[in-house]
Amino acid sequence: MSRRVKLGVLISGSGSNLQSIIDRSEDGTLAADIVCVISNNAGAFGLERAHRHNIPALHIDHRLFAGRSAYDTALVETLQQHGVELVILAGFMRIITPVLIEAFPMAIMNIHPAILPSFPGLHAQLQALDHGARISGCTVHFVDVGTDTGPIIVQAAVPVLDGDTEESLSARIQVEEHRIYPRAIQLYAEGRLSVEGRRVVITPSAPASAVSLENPAA
Ligand code: GRF
Repeated sequence: MSRRVKLGVLISGSGSNLQSIIDRSEDGTLAADIVCVISNNAGAFGLERAHRHNIPALHIDHRLFAGRSAYDTALVETLQQHGVELVILAGFMRIITPVLIEAFPMAIMNIHPAILPSFPGLHAQLQALDHGARISGCTVHFVDVGTDTGPIIVQAAVPVLDGDTEESLSARIQVEEHRIYPRAIQLYAEGRLSVEGRRVVITPSAPASAVSLENPAA
């Protein structure tokens, strides 16, 4: 059985992944509630998306802090004040530090627009095009101290088509992003993710017969 996990979502821009998580939370297919959205960028449309759904939306401007660690200290304080259990990076264009990672051990997820470990870092879609890759996609992973190096949770592949541009490939990848990010969070909510070495093990869901023993009506 899953309980409702409290999510804090960090964004910098459009927030289409944020929207997919809001939608799945509201339609009951994701056992999680977004308790705050934080952006380093005041103009991020994702803040407006949060407002529309009555989710606390905060702008914390990184330029007001002495350095990355000081900024992350403020993020940790705000996330903890809201009771966040799982931190969701969704287009958050900041390098995060051990201050944040150590406050939420194996409880920070990121989505990256490539099949990791290929094409980490910025402009992953363009990297895939420039490399002539025939397949690309997206990866949800736990965040560690490296850039896009943490244990992989879920991936989805899309074809790279002749004539693709960065925009057309990004749009194809985003369709899959919006599908797999809520899926990865739901696996977390169901308590089915564990990390062994650098691998994520996904516990199979309980068979229907086991469920019906507890609840014959199920
Ligand atoms: C996505 O492509 C994601 O993979 C990357 O940043 C982008 C965020 O898009 N990390 P959006 O703001 O969720 O629309």
